[in-house]
Amino acid sequence: MRSLISILDLTTEELDQLIETAKDIAAHPEKYWDRCAHKKLATLFFEPSTRTRLSFEAAMLELGGTVLGFSEASSSSASKGESVADTAKIVSCYADIMAMRHPREGAPYVASRAASIPVINAGDGGHNHPTQTLADLLTISRELGRLDNLTIGLCGDLKYGRTVHSLIEAMSRYQGIRFVLISPKELKLPGFVRYNVLEKHKIPYTEVTGLEAAMPQLDVLYMTRIQRERFDDPDEYDRLKDSYVLTAEKMKLAKKEMAVLHPLPRVNEISVKVDDDPRAAYFRQALNGKFMRMALILKLLEEAKANPVKEAVDTEGFVYDRVCRNPKCICQVEQELPQIFKVTDKAANIHRCIYCEQKD
Ligand code: CP
Repeated sequence: MRSLISILDLTTEELDQLIETAKDIAAHPEKYWDRCAHKKLATLFFEPSTRTRLSFEAAMLELGGTVLGFSEASSSSASKGESVADTAKIVSCYADIMAMRHPREGAPYVASRAASIPVINAGDGGHNHPTQTLADLLTISRELGRLDNLTIGLCGDLKYGRTVHSLIEAMSRYQGIRFVLISPKELKLPGFVRYNVLEKHKIPYTEVTGLEAAMPQLDVLYMTRIQRERFDDPDEYDRLKDSYVLTAEKMKLAKKEMAVLHPLPRVNEISVKVDDDPRAAYFRQALNGKFMRMALILKLLEEAKANPVKEAVDTEGFVYDRVCRNPKCICQVEQELPQIFKVTDKAANIHRCIYCEQKD
C-alpha cells in the first residue's frame, strides 16, 4: 500500500501510465463508472479549496464510490487540539483512501505514517501539491502532444507556490526540459527545489524578473497567484501582489502554439481577456485534474488491495540531533512529533527536515 505525498513518489513510467489512464477515462467514462463501488474517499480539508476538493469528490463519485469528509478545520476535532496522526488513524476506520489539504508543511506525510489507508497530499502549505502536478502534466500532454523538449516559464510566486515546486520536480525527469523562472527577487524558488532538483540533476534554468522578454521562447507559461495567505508581512504582499499581469497584448509576444497554464484560483494575474485565446488552457486544466485524480484513486486502491501492507519508511540517512526552524512546518505545532532530518547532500553536509524539507 502506498500514499502520494510528493510527486517523486511516482516513477516517470507511473506518471505516463496515469496520463494514459486519464486519457482513457476522458474518452470512455462509462468503462469506469463502477470501478470503485462500495469504496469511500475521505476529503480532509483543513484549508480552503474549490478545485482540488470538488474534483476529488467528483472523481470518486464518477468511479461509483462515495465521499465523506470536512471542508474546514473548524468543523473537525482539530479545532479541539486533535493531532494530524490521531485524525489519520480515526479516518482509517471509516474510509478506504483519504485526500488531505493542510496549511502546515509536512502534515500529509505525518498522516501517511499514522494511517492504515493510502493518503494523498492535496496541498501542504507552501510545500507540495502533487495532484495539481498530475493535472498539469495531462494538460501539457493534451495541449502540446509531448512532455519533453519544452521551455517552461514559471511566473509569479515561486517561493510559496507549492504547485510550482511539484511541477519542477516532475518535469525535470523528462528529456530536454529547460525552465525560465520569472519572479520578484523576494519570491524566488526555495532551496529544496533549486538544489535538490535543478542543481542536482543539472537541469538548465535561468532566473529573470521580467515576463515580456521571456515570452517568445516559451512553450508553456505557468502563471501563479501571489499567495497572500503565506505572507507574514501584509505590506510585503501589497507591494508584490501585482508584480505580473498577463494581458492580451503580452500574448502577442508568445509562440502561436504556447500553452498558458494556471493552477487557479487567479486574482488578477491573468486578464479575463486572455480567456478566449485558444492558448489559454487553465479551465481545461481544471477538468484534467478530475481525470487524473480518478486515475490516481484507481491506482492507489488497486495497489492497496493487492498489497495492504504499508511500505516501510526508508530511514537511511536519518539524524535525530537537529531542530527544524521553519515556522510553517507541522513539527512546530505538533510538539510530540520527533525532530528528524535526512542527509540530502553528504558532500555539502546538507540536512533537511523530513516533514517540510527545509534546511537546518
Ligand atoms: N489549484 C488548486 O489547488 O485550487 P484550489 O485551492 O481551489 O483547490
